[in-house]
Amino acid sequence: MKRIIVAFAAVLLVMFNCAQTRAGHHGDAEKAVKKGILLVAFGTSMPEAGRAFDNIERKVKAEFEDIDVRWAYTSHIIREKLASRGEEVLSPEEALAWMMDQGYTHVAVQSLHTIAGREFHELLKNANAFEDMAGPIRKVTVGLPLLGTHKDIEAVSSAILDFIPEKRKKDEAVVLMGHGTRHPANAFYTALMFNLRQKDRNIFVGTVEGRPDIGEIQNMLEKRGLNKVYLMPFMSVAGDHASNDMAGDGADSWKSVLTGAGMECVPVLKGTAEYDSIVSVWVNHLKTAVTNLEKE
Ligand code: CO
Repeated sequence: MKRIIVAFAAVLLVMFNCAQTRAGHHGDAEKAVKKGILLVAFGTSMPEAGRAFDNIERKVKAEFEDIDVRWAYTSHIIREKLASRGEEVLSPEEALAWMMDQGYTHVAVQSLHTIAGREFHELLKNANAFEDMAGPIRKVTVGLPLLGTHKDIEAVSSAILDFIPEKRKKDEAVVLMGHGTRHPANAFYTALMFNLRQKDRNIFVGTVEGRPDIGEIQNMLEKRGLNKVYLMPFMSVAGDHASNDMAGDGADSWKSVLTGAGMECVPVLKGTAEYDSIVSVWVNHLKTAVTNLEKE
């Protein structure tokens, strides 16, 4: 059956290529199709953290062999930092404008954010605007971030249970550090924690900039009498927040706060994008976005 599908796909591909060539011969540029994928992350300026993005790119290129893959970072601060080192990364708007200029007609934009917060909604709005502009881009689709649906919460929760260090015992806590936001999508962190704690009472999800914060997490840990904690970032890359706010030696870091409360902390500095089971959730959203390019 699989072979038949592959053969059928190959025939379709040949037909598609012929159609493209014919359109070219007749100078009918309107019919030509040039597909692209734009991966959009918050960004990172830490080269060690970049391996998480390399992992995503490998998976995406393996899944979509015939489609060009481009990157953009939403964080202005990170793009400026990189530019000062001579590394240029475009914003999503710049990247889409460049793709427009390069004659791309169909672009699937994949958000590599964790939740659909402010940055995701800005990306969605601006990406959609490119569809309305005059120029070669006819269709733009945007894939959901990591936690987009209830199915994602379930998949991510299972993935987390799998990547918790094996040496961690059931009576030891795992505290995940999400970024957090004032945007209502912040509730996804708590939804994930609810799901995780149905399966393992000693797993918690806190945030740096939203709720629950480290104080609330500390209360929960103390109520359960937990005195050893594995600290893990719940962000695509183990960047600045993970190394400083989570595992740093500063007085406000989660490690310092919990150590000060008498708990032993074991930080694990690995971003979620380094785990294949998490990356596949983003890749599945991208598959939907690429499929939707065909819809009128
Ligand atoms: Co931040």
